[in-house]
Amino acid sequence: MAHIIAPSLLSADFADLKSAVRLVDESPAPWLHLDVMDGVFVPNISFGLPVIKAIRPLTKKVFDIHLMIVRPDQFIGAFRDAGANVLTVHYEACTHLHRSIQAIKAAGMKAGVAINPHTSVHLLEDVLADIDLVCVMSVNPGFGGQAFIERTYEKVAALKTLRVRTGSQALIEIDGGVGSGNAKQLLAAGADVLVAGNSVFGAGDPASAIVDLSTP
Ligand code: DX5
Ligand code: ZN
Repeated sequence: MAHIIAPSLLSADFADLKSAVRLVDESPAPWLHLDVMDGVFVPNISFGLPVIKAIRPLTKKVFDIHLMIVRPDQFIGAFRDAGANVLTVHYEACTHLHRSIQAIKAAGMKAGVAINPHTSVHLLEDVLADIDLVCVMSVNPGFGGQAFIERTYEKVAALKTLRVRTGSQALIEIDGGVGSGNAKQLLAAGADVLVAGNSVFGAGDPASAIVDLSTP
């Protein structure tokens, strides 16, 4: 399967989101990654439902929504209505993760689970076959533009093995510090989806940054 690039809007110019979404819409990236932060689960606040609703009509690209919020269960229907296609919750934020996953799927979306850098992939063993995506955080969530944590390569390798053993089809997504310097190695390690914020919207030419990541 060809890999998927998911530019993250977090590093875009928030005063001109329309242009940023259009840029992704006209690019080869099939997904748009949207980081929702509540100031509780992570030490930052980004954007939420009204912004996602406002940009939804601008593109048909897959909305890959990464919820960095506590108690995400109460908002599953609202994110579906706002236009989410893939909805990812954090392992560390869900006491009843199995229930959260089933609720996302019952609402008609693909279900993702994100794990922080300190969380072992093995903790997903009992839900891996049920989910559509694992988001391996390669930085501590909360901010764009942070340095990639090298240990991520080993986590991807372990996750690939676990995926085979559990009969899972989950895509492996890498989020944080991804750019032209590590994209190739991450894909070789087994990544299916690369999230890229700063390396796209912080680049002089974001459109060609997406093209470069699409053909690393
Ligand atoms: C971090 C977010 C990321 C962020 C990645 O908490 O989950 O999606 O936008 O940004 P970069 O690619 O700049 O590390
Ligand atoms: Zn993210």
